[in-house]
Formats: sequence, C-alpha cells, structure tokens
Amino acid sequence: MGSGQMFDEKEKILVIGTTAYAAVFIDMFECLECIEFVGCVENRDKTRSGRRLAGLPIYWTEDIAGLAASHKLMCALGTTLRKRWITDCNAVGFDFITLVHPSCVISQNTTIGEGTSIDAGSVVAGYSDIGAHVRIGRQASLGHHTTIGAFTTIHPGAIISGSCTIGNQVTIGTGTVVIDGIKIGAGAVIAAGTVVTCDVPSNVLLAGNPGIIKRQDYGPQSPRDGEVRQIHKVQFRKHLPLINFFGSKF
Ligand SMILES: CC(C)(COP(=O)(O)OP(=O)(O)OC[C@H]1O[C@@H](n2cnc3c(N)ncnc32)[C@H](O)[C@@H]1OP(=O)(O)O)[C@@H](O)C(=O)NCCC(=O)NCCS
Repeated sequence: MGSGQMFDEKEKILVIGTTAYAAVFIDMFECLECIEFVGCVENRDKTRSGRRLAGLPIYWTEDIAGLAASHKLMCALGTTLRKRWITDCNAVGFDFITLVHPSCVISQNTTIGEGTSIDAGSVVAGYSDIGAHVRIGRQASLGHHTTIGAFTTIHPGAIISGSCTIGNQVTIGTGTVVIDGIKIGAGAVIAAGTVVTCDVPSNVLLAGNPGIIKRQDYGPQSPRDGEVRQIHKVQFRKHLPLINFFGSKF
C-alpha cells in the first residue's frame, strides 16, 4: 500500500488523562499530520468533564464507549497503573494507536506494540521488541535484542543496552543506565540516575550507582497501593503499522 493511502482521513484520537502531563503529550505528537487529537478522557473527577485541556474537550470515561468504532485511544499517563484503565477501554472495543515522534530513529527490525508512544529524539536499535502500551520519554536509547514488557515506562534520557529483558510495568527513571544483558523483573522501579549492573527482582526499588535494592514489595503490585494487582498476559497485542510525520508506514 502506498504512502498516504491508509490515512485519507485523519485518525481521531482521544487522549486518556487530563493532567499537565497529558497536555505535554499532545504537544509532543500534534505535529503528526495523519492524526487529530479530539478530546481528553477523565476517570476520577467527573466535574472535570465539560472543561478543556490544551484546547480540547474533557470527556468522562463512561461516556466515550460509543466512540470505539470511530476513534482510537492513546494513554498519556506515566504511571504503570495505567494498565487497569487501558484494559477496561479495550474491553469496550477501543483500539489504541501507536505513536512515534518523527525525530526518532527506530530500526525496521524492531517491533513496537499497540498503544506504545515514543517521544522526540529517541533511538531504538535493531532486533528488539517493545511491548504494548509502553511509554518512552525524550532522548531515550534502547539497544539491540532487547525486550521491553507491556505497560512499562522509560523516562527521558534513559539508556538501556543490548540484550536486556525488561518486564511488564517496570518504571525506569530519568537518566538511568542499564548495562547489557540485564534482566529487570515485572513491577520494579529504577530511581532516576541509577546505574543497573546486575539483574533486578520484581517489585523492588533500585537506586544508586551501582544500583542497590532500597525497598522490597514496591511498585504497582505492592499492597501499599491499596490492592494487589495481578499482571496478566496482554491478549490484545497487535503490531500496528507505525505512523511517521509524512503519514507513511515505517
Ligand atoms: C524512585 C523514586 C520514585 C523514589 O520515590 P520514594 O518512594 O518517595 O522513595 P524515597 O524518596 O523514600 O527513597 C527511598 C530510598 O531510595 C533513595 N533514592 C530515591 N531516589 C534516588 C535516586 N534517584 N538516586 C539515589 N537514591 C535514591 C533514597 O535516598 C532512599 O534511600 P534510603 O532508604 O537509603 O534513605 C524517585 O526517587 C525517583 O527517582 N523517581 C523517578 C523520577 C523520574 O525519573 N521522573 C521522570 C519525570 S519525566
């Protein structure tokens, strides 16, 4: 299929989240000519529906179900707890769009899951597998033969080397360095600026240089979050064609 044929009409996108972070997210990707942000979605404070964010109307989450056939979603939440809301939206039939800022360099031999977004200036080497609903911040660098689990957040400037395996719902703080071949368990949180030099168990807080475990029973699975959340295999994962600035497929 030739460039542009898939997107005769702009894809209508609703953004999950109504914080300043969501406004920054919209600012990052509104340069993409093949999509149009048409609203933001709130699920905590119903009084916010009817207001506007970044010039867009705010909708209450339960009121958007009828738009599933005509609109796609993109989640602009940094927290890995976004998994629950995303899963609920999938259950009512929504698909999520995959967004890559045009300034990124992504290998043709790397796959990127549905709902993942990659901010400006990031570089992803070949033969890697980035899962569904991963958030990748500005100027992150991901190495070759590396796997990133679903719902993981990689904050700006992180460097993840080759042959790493990062689990689901992991948070990698700003400026973290992960050396090659490292495995990080699901739900782990890596503090900003950490140098990860050995494998990391699930659900711990790791910090420092070299990184050491600072807290056990930490992260999205922790009972301290109010409830224990199980990590399920993502059933809805699809490898969608990515969209670049010119509306053509990568
Ligand atoms: C990891 C983080 C969430 C910890 O938050 P917290 O639960 O409030 O943890 P605390 O501040 O109580 O710190 C726990 C321990 O880790 C240490 N620690 C926390 N962050 C650290 C860091 N970045 N580097 C080194 N040590 C760190 C604390 O000194 C403390 O150590 P101690 O137990 O020996 O005293 C936070 O420090 C962090 O780094 N967040 C990432 C921020 C980020 O990247 N934002 C991106 C925005 S775009």
